[in-house]
Amino acid sequence: SAAEKGGYDYFMLKEIAEQPKAVADTLLGRIDLAGNLCLDEVRIPASVLREVSKVVIVACGTAYHAGMIAKYAIEHWTRIPCETELASEFRYRDPILDQRTLVIAISQSGETMDTLMALRHAREQGAKVLAICNTNGSTIPRESDAVLYTHAGPEVAVASTKAFLTQLVACYLVALYLGQVRGTKWGDEILSVIRELSEIATQVDQVLETMEPVRELARSLADKNTVLFLGRHVGYPVALEGALKLKELAYMHAEGFAAGELKHGPIALIEQDVPVVVVVPSPRGRSVLHDKIVSNIQEIRARGARTIVIAERGDETVAPYADHLIEIPATPTLLQPLVATVPLQVFACELATARGNEVDQPRNLAKSVTVE
Ligand code: G6P
Repeated sequence: SAAEKGGYDYFMLKEIAEQPKAVADTLLGRIDLAGNLCLDEVRIPASVLREVSKVVIVACGTAYHAGMIAKYAIEHWTRIPCETELASEFRYRDPILDQRTLVIAISQSGETMDTLMALRHAREQGAKVLAICNTNGSTIPRESDAVLYTHAGPEVAVASTKAFLTQLVACYLVALYLGQVRGTKWGDEILSVIRELSEIATQVDQVLETMEPVRELARSLADKNTVLFLGRHVGYPVALEGALKLKELAYMHAEGFAAGELKHGPIALIEQDVPVVVVVPSPRGRSVLHDKIVSNIQEIRARGARTIVIAERGDETVAPYADHLIEIPATPTLLQPLVATVPLQVFACELATARGNEVDQPRNLAKSVTVE
């Protein structure tokens, strides 16, 4: 009913708008005044976490993209090797697991069969399993050694939005916590990132307030056949997520690429007027990546692409090459997906509407897939 949708036409619009609150709720009570993480609810003792020699993340769909981003954060802040794998592929390749492996299963519903089978396999091999889940008492957390709940509230639209942002928050918390527990040379950076995390809800809100031009752009692309997405570092999974949203909702051909791979194939797809969304890393910090992406944008534009550039506010170097510039607030590099994903959600939702598609219930898809 209209009331359930809180005045929005679709649950998806409501859930996109709820993201600042979902992010804030997921952080609530998990950081103390001194900036230390309080994750006692994760009932894996610090002594066990200090012995972890490998992290493996398993998930499906949008949750898998959260897991891909988590890999960057975990390896950077903890120096523990981490791999992220599609849950449906995991157990069939006989993965190497032991008591010192921490498996993180990410699932909004907690009922996805592929993810459940992956975690059962991991536990049979003696690995510890931590679930990141949005649904209290669901099967995946019940079968795991520990759980960190995301507090997104119920997500109704099939295409995941607020759950994804809170999965990211939970992944960052786990990465920072592991870093804090184990003590790495990144101690100061960890403290400053924890402080910056508490600004993110406000920044997501700022992004939401500037989305009208993105909706207009989406409507203008309603009769296109394909949209490409490019990103690098944590922007790569963001590009994959932008493409997934477009497939799910607009039923368009959409693909995400690692920008560095462009020259190894995808650049052959660039022709006159093809829309290409590019996620640009901050010019501060890892500026090498930034400069490389800027030259990618120049390359595709020279071949006629219509460039849709998502870049940090005040990043003046990209503006001349952007047919459409979407500005996002400055964040630490690893946190950028929390703000960069939001315009892509709005973009896909508006394109679906413009193409007359059912936004909350896309064809052929289910909110939670309980078969393998
Ligand atoms: C389904 C949904 C996706 C979701 C995936 C994983 O395919 O349509 O939106 O990302 O399942 O769901 P989970 O509940 O495990 O996060």
